[in-house]
Parts: sequence; structure tokens; C-alpha cells
Amino acid sequence: MTGQGSSKKSGAKSNDKGRSDLVVVANRLPVDFTTDEDGHVEWHRSPGGLVTALEPVTREAEGAWVGWSGAPDVEHEPFEADGMLLVPVTLSRSDIERYYEGFANDTLWPLYHDVISPPTYHRQWWDAYRRVNRRFAEAAAAQAAPGAVVWVHDYQLQLVPAMLRELRPDLRIGFFDHIPFPAVELFQQLPWRTQIVEGMLGADLIGFQRGGDASNFVRSVRRLTKHTTRGPIITVADADGKPGRHVRAAAFPISIDSQHFDELARTPEVQARAKEIRADLGNPKVMMLGVDRLDYTKGIRHRIKAYGELLQDGRLDVEHCTLVQVASPSRENVGAYQDLREHVEGLVGRINGEFGELGHSAIHYLHHSYPAEEMAALYLAADVMLVTSLRDGMNLVAKEYIAARSDEQGVLVLSEFTGAADELAPGPLLVNPHDIDGMKDIIVTAARMEPREQRRRMRRLRRKVMADDVAKWSQSFLGVLTAMPPRTSHV
Ligand code: G6P
Repeated sequence: MTGQGSSKKSGAKSNDKGRSDLVVVANRLPVDFTTDEDGHVEWHRSPGGLVTALEPVTREAEGAWVGWSGAPDVEHEPFEADGMLLVPVTLSRSDIERYYEGFANDTLWPLYHDVISPPTYHRQWWDAYRRVNRRFAEAAAAQAAPGAVVWVHDYQLQLVPAMLRELRPDLRIGFFDHIPFPAVELFQQLPWRTQIVEGMLGADLIGFQRGGDASNFVRSVRRLTKHTTRGPIITVADADGKPGRHVRAAAFPISIDSQHFDELARTPEVQARAKEIRADLGNPKVMMLGVDRLDYTKGIRHRIKAYGELLQDGRLDVEHCTLVQVASPSRENVGAYQDLREHVEGLVGRINGEFGELGHSAIHYLHHSYPAEEMAALYLAADVMLVTSLRDGMNLVAKEYIAARSDEQGVLVLSEFTGAADELAPGPLLVNPHDIDGMKDIIVTAARMEPREQRRRMRRLRRKVMADDVAKWSQSFLGVLTAMPPRTSHV
């Protein structure tokens, strides 16, 4: 959906002052803004994991969504889209460099993903992170009706819960961390570790992808603050050190709109497109697929290395097998992402040069994003789906692949280091992506798996993914949050 920017007031479910009973706060709005040649601002719906997960809930509640437009210096009035009120937060170029590319994606992202890439600690970035978090908190405070539920998302906004509580003690505040929460031994590298933990503790309920993330967080609370913990409950001490309000930290594994993906993949257009994709690839016996943001956490290099070695060893050959790697552009101004792109593209070039033949590429590398229809067709076409992240909060691609396979065929190779592995085992073939030899064996097993065994595994996976969809996820988080005792004795 596309629209012209407008300053129209919301028709969303809100109280008489135009404020909302449910406010989602996330770094990005579920739309992207572009400015045309005449300077008119236009917006387009932007797909993506978080958006897919939250848009239906917010729309259903006719709530508001506070977030950044994705472009620098866009000043825009709140506007209505698809039954939601979208409230843009403006980021300058310098905010983008220091808060988004800097602190969020070059400090927290690598630190929280087990320092796969070294995190950078800059005091100026921290100052920008605090400043921008305050801006989000103020926008949410202005939008929330009395006693509203505010749901804050992800590592970019960890200070918002405490800032918001200070501004609006009447609110019920939830926070969900979409990415892993690291072990305290790593987390304590962060010079501002205590402020981050205190920021999150402004929430009543803190959600994580895995039980392990929640317990890492609780351990950090114990190690770094004076608050007390008992199982998943943290008792926050007030300024005098007296025990005050309770905060719950627990796992709520996120999912996808499974039915939508299932239905999409059953449409004649998508089915025809899947056949066309296979034909375009020369109807290989085995089509393997990788779909990732081009991110160093995804283990793309490890996967391609293993695949290249299998061609080298002669255990796979380009006449019968091909790998399609979709790597969607991401965070392209961050050095570690630029280095990764160079590495991956160099590796793909070398492997294709060495093993490709006329009419048979070893790897089809696509540095693009695609609409959901094309993704569903790719999933349907692929015999083997390779998800080999070195660390991943959940990994929704794995779930999308399963939801698309109503034919109960296809093999999912899944890294042990994903949240999805915790949930989906024993259906997928699990791999440790650091163990290249082990991964090679698993890839060969996947390529040779009999249709009967594929069906047995896929059935089990589909039972799980079709039942535990994103609606259930948000209902269960919001259900726990709203059932918590009313706020009385807080700071
Ligand atoms: C991950 C994060 C999201 C983020 C997305 C895309 O899934 O958990 O918060 O929006 O990546 O990254 P980007 O930096 O483009 O928003």
C-alpha cells in the first residue's frame, strides 16, 4: 500500500483526546518514506519480521505505532494507515550515524550476538542513544491514553521503558527483546550496562525469545544492580533501597503469520512461479536455498564455504545441485557489513569461477529483497533450506519455509544457535555452523533425504508452526501484561 503523507487526525480507537489505548513503540514504522522530485513525502508499506508480527495486533486494537520513518530529517504529522495511527519520530543524519548505525548496530548488535564481530564503544554514540530513546519515550507518552498499554520493542529502545515510566507512571509497559540477550560475562563489557538494565526494568513485563535469554537477563540484574530476583520475578528496589514493584522476565518465542504464508504458497500463481524458478535453474535435482539479511550473524560465509568444499570433494556437483542465496541489503553504512559483503561476494565469485559450468552456476547470489509472493515461490521450489546462523534471536525464515510447505516436502537444515532450534527440534536437521565438516555431512544428508522421511519431519514442523503463530505470540504477551496486578507502589 502506498499513500501521500497527510496530517489527518486518527480515527483509531482512542479516548476523547485522540490518544490510544495500545501504543507500539519500535525503531521503525511499518512504512518507508520517500521524497519525490517535487519534495512530496510518500510512504510505502515496508515488509519485515517485526512489522509482520505487530501490524495485525495494532490494527486490530486500532492502536498507534511510534517509530522512525527510515529516512533522515523527515518531519511528519501523525497519520492513519490501515486502521493504525502512525506517529513518526524524526532522526537527523547525525542521529542515524550515532544512534542507529553506531550504538544500536555497531555496539549492541555485535555484543548481543556473542561478539561475532567486535563491538565498538563510543561515548558520543551512547549520548545519542539516550537522546533518541528520550524522544521515543516522549512521543509514546504524548500518544498513550490514561492507563494505556505501551509495548516497546527491541535493542534500539532499551531505555524507553524507564523513561516512559517516569513520564507516565499510570501506563502498563511491556518490553520485548527480539534478539538474543547475552551472558553477563559478555554483557558486562558494555560501559553502560547498568543503565541499560535499569532502562529495561522500567517495564512491567520483559519478553525474550528463549528461556536462556530471560535467565541471562535475570543474572545480569543480580550481578549489576541491587534489585532482588526470585525465579522470573525481579523486585525493583526504590531510591532508598526498599523493595518496590515487581517485574517479570520470561520467554515468548515470536512467530509468523503462518496461515497467510500457507495460503500464499497454495495460490496457482505462486505454484507456477516455483516451477518457473526451478526451470530457470535448469531443473536441478536438488535446489538449496539460503535467505538472509546480509548480516555476519547469519553464518552465510560458513554455509557457502561448506557448500564449496562439497563441490571440491565431489560429494555434490553443479549438474545436479545448485544453491540460491538471497542476501537482502542491510545496514550498508556500517563497516562490518561492508566487509561481510566483500567477503561473501569474493567467495561466491571464486566458487562460481572454479566449479560453475555454462548453464550451471554453483551459486545464484541475489543481493535484493523480494516481496512475500516471490519468497513463497522460492521456499516452495527449494528442496533444502539452509539456516546456519552463528547466533539468531529466533529466525523467522525457518518458520516461513515450513509454513509454505503444505506439500510436506523439503528439508530444513537449522543452526543450533537460533531461537527457532529451541522450539522446532527434533524436526529440522540441526547443525553447528562452526563445525564445517559436520555441516557438510548434514547438507549431504539433507540433499539425499527420502520423500517419506521429509514428510515425517515436515509434518511435525508444520504442526508446531501452524499452531503457534504470531497472533498467539502477541496475545500471550499482551495477556500476561494486562493480567499483572494494577500499578500502585511504583517509583
Ligand atoms: C532484526 C531486528 C529488528 C530490525 C531488523 C532489520 O530483525 O531485531 O529490530 O528492524 O533486524 O534491521 P534494520 O536495521 O534494517 O531495522
